[in-house]
Amino acid sequence: MRKIIMIMGLIVLALLVVGCAKPASKFPETGIEIFKSPTCGCCSIYAKHMQDKGFDAKVTDTYDVQAIKTKYNVPAQLSSCHTTIAGDYFVEGHIPLEAVEKLLTEKPDIAGIAMPGMPSGSPGMPGAKQGQFVIFSVGKDGSINEFMRI
Ligand code: CU
Ligand code: CU
Repeated sequence: MRKIIMIMGLIVLALLVVGCAKPASKFPETGIEIFKSPTCGCCSIYAKHMQDKGFDAKVTDTYDVQAIKTKYNVPAQLSSCHTTIAGDYFVEGHIPLEAVEKLLTEKPDIAGIAMPGMPSGSPGMPGAKQGQFVIFSVGKDGSINEFMRI
């Protein structure tokens, strides 16, 4: 009888520990850092969205986000507000996390992905989604191709 009570106690304890634990972070091996202007509201919402969905993203405020875009060769015509660096890739703009997961899972030999502008209804942006989001891949040679449509 004492043994059963002890085992039940252990099970309850284990459940408590599991229940309190933080959800496992996605891609724990990949360093993720979001560079954004300190005054950008939509960027902050995107950063929080990423963190809420389990991405262990560090947020760095800078008044010169353009310097990061230049450093990582983000094409000007595909640029958005904030730039996320995930491992060696850039993730430019309000890109839905499905595309980030695809990028970090498949690990293609490219420089990064980008969704230009700040389309309404994308993560961090208000308003209704208008049509599909088109996410582009940017090759290390600067070539631009469609990466994903969501
Ligand atoms: Cu924005
Ligand atoms: Cu932004």
